[in-house]
Amino acid sequence: MVAILGFSKDKVTAAVQAMYGDVARDPRQHFHFPVGRTAARAVGYPEDTLDRLPQHAVERFVGVGYPFRASVIQEGDRVLDIGSGAGCDSLIASSLVGDSGKVWSLDITPEMLGRLRATLSEAGIDNVEPIEADAEHIPLPDNSVDVVTSNGVLNLIPAKRTVLAEIFRVLKPEGRMQLSDIVIDRPVPLGGRSDPELWAECVVGASVKEDYLALFREAGFTDIVELREFDYFSESPSADTRRIAAGLGARSIDIAMRRPAHAVSPGRLDRLTSRLHPKRLARVGARGLWGAVAAATAILACYGLVALLGLASLLGLGLTLPEGLWAVAIFAATVLAVVATAVNLPRHGRPWPLLVSGTGAALVGYVLFVSYDPLIEALGFIILVGAIGWDLYQVYLAECVPEPRRRLRQSRA
Ligand SMILES: C[S@@+](CC[C@H](N)C(=O)[O-])C[C@H]1O[C@@H](n2cnc3c(N)ncnc32)[C@H](O)[C@@H]1O
Repeated sequence: MVAILGFSKDKVTAAVQAMYGDVARDPRQHFHFPVGRTAARAVGYPEDTLDRLPQHAVERFVGVGYPFRASVIQEGDRVLDIGSGAGCDSLIASSLVGDSGKVWSLDITPEMLGRLRATLSEAGIDNVEPIEADAEHIPLPDNSVDVVTSNGVLNLIPAKRTVLAEIFRVLKPEGRMQLSDIVIDRPVPLGGRSDPELWAECVVGASVKEDYLALFREAGFTDIVELREFDYFSESPSADTRRIAAGLGARSIDIAMRRPAHAVSPGRLDRLTSRLHPKRLARVGARGLWGAVAAATAILACYGLVALLGLASLLGLGLTLPEGLWAVAIFAATVLAVVATAVNLPRHGRPWPLLVSGTGAALVGYVLFVSYDPLIEALGFIILVGAIGWDLYQVYLAECVPEPRRRLRQSRA
């Protein structure tokens, strides 16, 4: 939702504050995303709800959906609005919870909260408390909130898992969450991530839908209900934004979920199994699997053949196979494994797995066609398999791990 020319947390925060500071100061400027009453109406806010709200807040609405579709807020509730902006959703929540309830409006952009404070004092509303903070460190006690609401915010935050762990912590058992955010169909291509225009077009921080939903399951949430998907970007005033968003299958989603009654933060095994979503595995697997299969075939063909010949001679069968043919078959499978790592190169942009797999294949070729040495042969296969594992890991990092964490892991690798 914002122009971010780098991936560090500080750059992301600075760009978010600059962009939304502008919205708070003057919402009539040209933005590449829909702003104000027209935007709110387009994503589903009823006209009469908007009529009842202070217009300073409505003019600065920059949400992407209508989280109140979930109908989870009740009178007396304590509600936390994460990334409240100028407070449209906080003010709706304020009227739903009534005098016995309370709303905290948390945001990282001081100008947005400044505008909200002015609105609250103009309208005499005293059950809403603005909090200037980062969603990664929510300054509220454990189990203190009945409902978390958020609109168009998680896609802007690289450390989504940290924020979800914080939300889980502050929600009471049986607490509810209503959320609108952006999801995409295809991972942002590597080149696109470093394209400032794409950052500006507000989709590169978004996650692929299955990964996004898996994050909530991993964090321990249950009863995750998808309420609506909406072609939010068709409302964008920028033709470029509409084109890029359509290319990635970007859209907004309204969802609701719950913190279970007896929930403890999920353990490592639970988190791991919740990541094993079939579509997610298929996406990584489809691109790396055939390389892995090729390497496995080459190894099996080679050592499997040796085992077969040994077994045959034990059974008294004198099997002779055309060696040249087997050598060619083994080498073809080895080359296929190298091709697989080459195909993946544009996906992660790291040349080393390809160079290493090429070295492994060269060693296998050497022992097959030049001079046989069992140690060099084993070394060749080990290098080949290691390169394929490394390549698969790089694909996983590029397509499934948020940018800052990926950079950290890549710099360690
Ligand atoms: C797209 S706007 C949505 C504002 C509001 N929810 C609405 O519907 O109008 C995103 C808001 O999230 C805030 N935000 C972004 N990153 C944040 C973070 N890490 N912690 C808290 N707020 C954040 C921004 O300052 C901005 O006000």
